[in-house]
Amino acid sequence: GEEKKALFIIFGGTGDLANRKLYPSLYRLYKKGYLKDHFAVIGTARREWSNDYYREIVMKNIEELTESTEHAAAFASHFYYQSHNVKDTEHYVNLEKLACMLDEKYQLEQNRLFYLAMSPKFFGIIAKNIKEQNLLTENGFDRLIIEKPFGHDYDSAYELNEEIRASFTEDQIYRIDHYLGKEMIQNISAIRFGNQLIESMWNNRYISNIQVTLSESLGVEERGGYYDTSGALRDMVQNHILQVVALLAMEPPTRLKDSEIRDEKIKVLRALRVYNDEEVRKNFVRGQYGKSTIEGSTLHGYRKEANVDPESQTETFVAGKLFIDNYRWAGVPFYVRTGKRLAEKGSQIDIEFKNVPLNLFQEEAEEDLPPNVLSIFISPVEGFSLKLNTKKIGPGMRTEPIHLTHTHSAEMTANSPEAYEKLLLDCLNGDATNFTHWDEVAASWIFIDAIRQAWNKVECAFPNYPSGSMGPIESDDLLKRDGFHWHWEP
Ligand code: BG6
Repeated sequence: GEEKKALFIIFGGTGDLANRKLYPSLYRLYKKGYLKDHFAVIGTARREWSNDYYREIVMKNIEELTESTEHAAAFASHFYYQSHNVKDTEHYVNLEKLACMLDEKYQLEQNRLFYLAMSPKFFGIIAKNIKEQNLLTENGFDRLIIEKPFGHDYDSAYELNEEIRASFTEDQIYRIDHYLGKEMIQNISAIRFGNQLIESMWNNRYISNIQVTLSESLGVEERGGYYDTSGALRDMVQNHILQVVALLAMEPPTRLKDSEIRDEKIKVLRALRVYNDEEVRKNFVRGQYGKSTIEGSTLHGYRKEANVDPESQTETFVAGKLFIDNYRWAGVPFYVRTGKRLAEKGSQIDIEFKNVPLNLFQEEAEEDLPPNVLSIFISPVEGFSLKLNTKKIGPGMRTEPIHLTHTHSAEMTANSPEAYEKLLLDCLNGDATNFTHWDEVAASWIFIDAIRQAWNKVECAFPNYPSGSMGPIESDDLLKRDGFHWHWEP
């Protein structure tokens, strides 16, 4: 690839995200030549580390990807550590000194990428100090990458945005939603806009319902403290699920360019029907996992997890039925669900088409033809499947469903760039397609807040689904009531 020149300043440089995602992704970009001689990384965090120790840690985190120790060491030599208290203005002065030195040394053309990989409570103060202590440059680019969560409701998101906008313009802000970096999420636009067969039927005349399942088998693991104040609605629905819905539902953009795509996504999110309490009760299901014993080993319930309130009302599962009130989607339910400690890890989208106007095969079979379904496999398998009715071999005219399936080979999937690698490269290129605009965040929170507020008024009898199941039974009822069922099954 073409070499990019930039200084990365990573706040939270000793943290989990930096270690697990950012350093390996930077190394992958280095291997591919996007990063070469003209880049440097400053890691900052509270701990007192030396450059040497930091480089050791970086090398440890890229171990599995390393070509040779020399290659890894050459990469790590671009890393610098500075201990930092985000509230202390003096520290930003030091940071600026180091940044200028590195700019000279590596000829970075004053391009700076600030990555906030730490607790969101510091986002505002860091953005403020970056500007006030003159870390923004005159000639190169200044870009700010922000990790989720972006607020915990509309008001806090608005406030946070105001704080950040005091230092950065909207087009300098890159709000991460790592689902947008996934190969198969990006593929939604390809399959829709590259195929007349698909896009001509992509509306309420032919589609009966759309389903999005983001199922996880793990529990909250070490993140109980964060998760218990968040819950599945904020952790997965407000961001990942609504982003996927927006990509599925948007009008074709005039060009595949960030500004055009975002405009279309914003329209979808603003068209989401915001529910009143009664509608929330009818259309949204929450769950929390309880303990269960599977093959002799016991998984304990959510309330027994570390740093979780033993009487927690936090949901670890959400299923919901959404409506997008516009011409294309009027009357088409979008069913979404996500949860922890479900039967299997799997992310999938299913598009169910309406039935043929008349079933000519009824005389022979006396049963309904199953609907055509287009499935998009996001992970762990990547690919597509289209379910069609065809003639069953033999006499007469019985039908049977078949699946036209294409999946990326395990090798292709393994070699496809990681979400974070792609997103970092996008940001270096100034391409904001796969990041969320403030207007998207705002519209999402308005929709989510209505649900959260309705829920807060009523206690739920948690736990209400055993670990290893597919959530509470009401999640299935949500579709059954409408004559549908979830297509994705473990
Ligand atoms: C994160 C959530 O945004 O997404 C986690 O905070 C969740 O709780 C994760 O586990 C799921 O991402 P993926 O890529 O593993 O499906």
